[in-house]
Amino acid sequence: MQTLNDIYIYPIKSGKAINQPAAKVEEKGLQFDRRYMLIDEQGQFITGRSYPQLTQIQVQFSKQMLIVDAPDMPSLTINPAEFSEQTKNATIWSDSLNAVHCDDAYDHWFSTFLQQKCQLVFCAAQTQRFIKNRETQVSFADGYPLLLINQTSVDQLNARLEKPVTALHFRPNLVINGDFPFVEDSWSRIRIGEVEFEVSKPCSRCLFTNVDPTTGIADINEPLRTLAKFRYYQGNIDFGQNLIPLNEGLIRIGDEIQVLETKGAPFYSSHDDVQEKNKKQLEIHYQGSDLTISGDNQQLLLDQAEQAGINIPYSCRGGKCGRCKVKLIEGEVISLSSQGLTQLEIEQGYILACSCIPVSDISIND
Ligand code: FES
Repeated sequence: MQTLNDIYIYPIKSGKAINQPAAKVEEKGLQFDRRYMLIDEQGQFITGRSYPQLTQIQVQFSKQMLIVDAPDMPSLTINPAEFSEQTKNATIWSDSLNAVHCDDAYDHWFSTFLQQKCQLVFCAAQTQRFIKNRETQVSFADGYPLLLINQTSVDQLNARLEKPVTALHFRPNLVINGDFPFVEDSWSRIRIGEVEFEVSKPCSRCLFTNVDPTTGIADINEPLRTLAKFRYYQGNIDFGQNLIPLNEGLIRIGDEIQVLETKGAPFYSSHDDVQEKNKKQLEIHYQGSDLTISGDNQQLLLDQAEQAGINIPYSCRGGKCGRCKVKLIEGEVISLSSQGLTQLEIEQGYILACSCIPVSDISIND
């Protein structure tokens, strides 16, 4: 029988996980999960991708309050009853939302720890953020209310790694014990406890996966490099499944995973093999500096530009923030994400350099 092994919440986005025996599933995700996050002075969200030390922030609940601890810092008590009335405009990838600003004193504590000016904001009941193209809301999580990881899949990954990783490397909410590795790829609807979930989309992994949740230290390559050898599909390295709850209710450790509907799983392969087989040389003309470089139809445009010394600004490298947008003047690309672009920018011919691959000679501009 496939069962739910662990339930985790991360009260502060990118902070340490709390293991729970049971949890209430709400529309936005597990209750108390990712309801707090840090933003910079421009309102941009701050995560462990840029500040891996965030993963060392520990939270405990005490009545209605949160006790926050971090290395070399005094304990901080966060009292929601004292939050300001003020809201702040915050941005997560391309989503803009109004979040409650908690308190200047908390900002000071987090700014001291990060050594970067930041503010703590809260996802209140009135904070609205919707999953892209859906009417369902989500908290401050990256894009979906819950993430499921199959421990059997982690075991198979570990069989290929010199230094094993834990499920927590993938920052899951639910860790299940699947019948076999990657059985979750073929699920489209499941039930756990009182809740039915849509298994919406595989989770494409970024460099944050290489941060060890115990130490907050990032490995240069692993486990992402090994995952790329067998979990590569259409430009992404996938591991885990994003879930959307279809109703609210309770789930508990030990609950059976009932598979209600299945679908065809993607055909995963090795990133290196796919590249070699299909490689074709082409030219990339960058109008900004009137430079033409020799490229290929395998690597991301941003990577190819960087290798040739062309500087295109970027931030997330995941197709979400829009920072690396360039205008496609001529030629064709495969676009892996346009999440960071507005509809108008797409119509104007903008593409995301971090998320597209040229398939013919192209000409681009700022
Ligand atoms: S969309 Fe963020 S760097 Fe490309």
